[in-house]
Amino acid sequence: MFRLSILNYSVSVLLLLDKTAKIQSLVYGTPVENCRSMIPQHDYNLPQWMDPPPYNLSASVILSNTTTTQFNVTLFAKHGATFKGFFIQARSLTGDRADAILGSFDPVEDSRIAHLINCPVGANNAATHNLNSPKRFVTFVWNPPADFEGKFYFV
Ligand SMILES: *[C@@H]1O[C@H](CO)[C@@H](O)[C@H](O)[C@H]1NC(C)=O
Ligand SMILES: *[C@@H]1O[C@H](CO)[C@@H](O)[C@H](O)[C@H]1NC(C)=O
Ligand SMILES: *[C@@H]1O[C@H](CO)[C@@H](O)[C@H](O)[C@H]1NC(C)=O
Repeated sequence: MFRLSILNYSVSVLLLLDKTAKIQSLVYGTPVENCRSMIPQHDYNLPQWMDPPPYNLSASVILSNTTTTQFNVTLFAKHGATFKGFFIQARSLTGDRADAILGSFDPVEDSRIAHLINCPVGANNAATHNLNSPKRFVTFVWNPPADFEGKFYFV
């Protein structure tokens, strides 16, 4: 029996995204080898830091009862910008498991847009693009691990 209180969660968002104009996205999304670093490894591209970022990654609780909590995780481009590739995970900020990749995403509704991958040591714990066409908006449902209490963030 576990207790999951939404009050123990604090959601914050870090962005590690690439400026669309200068990056080429792999057509079929991020390979599992990139799970930990999340840095594009192809075409000699490096992360492009922009402040403020032209993208918004935000999360909100969409279901919360005594047994289940679910989050809506949405990435969108601001001011008419677009993105081609993306890679989204939840990471722990808590104790022994700090920086662990957490939870799982629900199956993706539109398989043209995205698919889930299994980063070590979980299942469906990261979402990445399917096609490198320009996008303005993607949204996922994410489930925290049943035994998790603490802080986490989406990246
Ligand atoms: C990102 O979008 C959310 C939801 O629309 C909004 O509440 C938040 O203020 C936005 N953050 C930034 C930095 O624009
Ligand atoms: C919590 O919500 C889930 C999903 O809707 C549902 O399956 C479950 O029965 C609910 N649990 C309780 C205790 O209401
Ligand atoms: C998630 O949030 C986005 C942006 O606010 C919204 O368009 C979408 O309908 C939401 N999805 C769910 C399942 O609530």
